Amino acid sequence: MQNSLLSHQKAPTVQPLETDMRVSKDILELLSTAMYPDPLALYREYIQNAADSVEEAVRQNLYSPRTAPRIDVVIDVANRNVRIRDNGVGISNADFVQTLTSIGGSSKKGKGARGFRGVGRLAGLGFCQEVVMRSKSAADSQAYQLSWDCKKLKHLLRDPSCSDDLNTVARQVVGITHTPAKSGDHFFEVELKNVVRFRNDLLLNEVEVSAFLSQVAPVPFSPKFTFAEELETQLKSQASLQTFCVFINNNSEPLYRPFQDEFEVRKGLKDKFSGVEFFPIDGVSGDRDALGWVLHHGYLGAIPERLGIKGLRLRSGNIQIGDSKLFEQAFIETRFNSWSVGEIHTTSKNLLPNGRRDALEFNIHSQNLLTKLLPLTKQIAGKCRSSSAARVKGDVPAPIPYEKEWGLDDSDVKLIQSLAPNIRASFLQVMGPIFSKTRKDFHGRKAALTILRRITKES
Ligand SMILES: Nc1ncnc2c1ncn2[C@@H]1O[C@H](COP(=O)(O)OP(=O)(O)OP(=O)(O)O)[C@@H](O)[C@H]1O
Ligand SMILES: [Mg+2]
Repeated sequence: MQNSLLSHQKAPTVQPLETDMRVSKDILELLSTAMYPDPLALYREYIQNAADSVEEAVRQNLYSPRTAPRIDVVIDVANRNVRIRDNGVGISNADFVQTLTSIGGSSKKGKGARGFRGVGRLAGLGFCQEVVMRSKSAADSQAYQLSWDCKKLKHLLRDPSCSDDLNTVARQVVGITHTPAKSGDHFFEVELKNVVRFRNDLLLNEVEVSAFLSQVAPVPFSPKFTFAEELETQLKSQASLQTFCVFINNNSEPLYRPFQDEFEVRKGLKDKFSGVEFFPIDGVSGDRDALGWVLHHGYLGAIPERLGIKGLRLRSGNIQIGDSKLFEQAFIETRFNSWSVGEIHTTSKNLLPNGRRDALEFNIHSQNLLTKLLPLTKQIAGKCRSSSAARVKGDVPAPIPYEKEWGLDDSDVKLIQSLAPNIRASFLQVMGPIFSKTRKDFHGRKAALTILRRITKES
């Protein structure tokens, strides 16, 4: 009855919106501080811009043998100042103001660049008192500079008596200057002045920043890592991998990804990588959406977070999306994600990072990716379980490097080898920490060797 009444009513006419939308000053907070729960994300955003710009400079043939592409991060703790500079294409004087005062509407959209939303450079606004951006292109004779007075901005955003209008506020906090500069130079530099103290001064901690960027930034694998060449060759040919030299505090060596041949699962228990496996991931229409790889090892347990290698991770444009837990839900037992080492590199425009870059945009393609990961995560879980079962049965000696690294006499190495496998595994695990290279526990060592000699005599 009701349905039939409704069906006879005429649908209301929809009027198009005839007024402009009002954009309030609050948008600045939403796009800076509120956007990134992890403040280190600001380093990712500026490095990402630098990578896009260097890539464009390579395309335009701007480098010579004397000027290699490079990205520099300089952390000046004493002055609470951070500078991130690249020698990419830069922004021309003509485009400078318009580019850096636009919110959204990136000129990189649709060009396959890493950035495409036109907001990432605002990431620093909430974490320092002033942000200064400087740049020029090769053809310019001036360097332009735009500065944000973030201290004043914060005050105006909170002040209810200050106008709500974005432009009124922007005019009070943004300033533009230019200075003569060497023609031919091309660069972009962002300087964060008076960086705020945040969680143990994280943003000025060189070790923390390097550890974060070695995981997240598009830097190369270490040349000392055995699987570096195989990974780079395959990823370059199948996933257009690009890497960039990022130098922290003018170190002579650039930053590398954190993978090494061996890693410590827990104190005294080392494991090493035995091989790499690649797996292409097809999209819903059958075209390639991503290329994944996993590094196999002994699967001895959960890998510590501090090593920066744990978990199946996601990369887009060779920049990490989200963190080590992103794919936990693809494992039937989520804990096995932290036993895994691997990456998924997106290769299709179907898989786009969300605005915060902490996951992919939710759509049929990202759901398909999760489903396609299941056979792989099952295979990894199988390896984790059989490795645990073997260790419980005691038929696989724990690969603790006692022969080489404990500094034992040959006679003591022989005694350890003569122990029954299950006793040997327990002995190595209990004594491992005492024999670690960094611990000078002479009494502990002596006692351990006395116990060893006693148990071998008794058995
Ligand atoms: N290092 C840089 N070198 C040259 N141009 C830059 C650099 N950083 C920013 N720009 C210019 O400023 C624009 C805005 O940067 P912003 O990071 O806000 O947005 P985006 O990179 O386009 O997109 P996203 O919000 O996804 O990062 C860029 O599109 C680019 O034109
Ligand atoms: Mg950007």
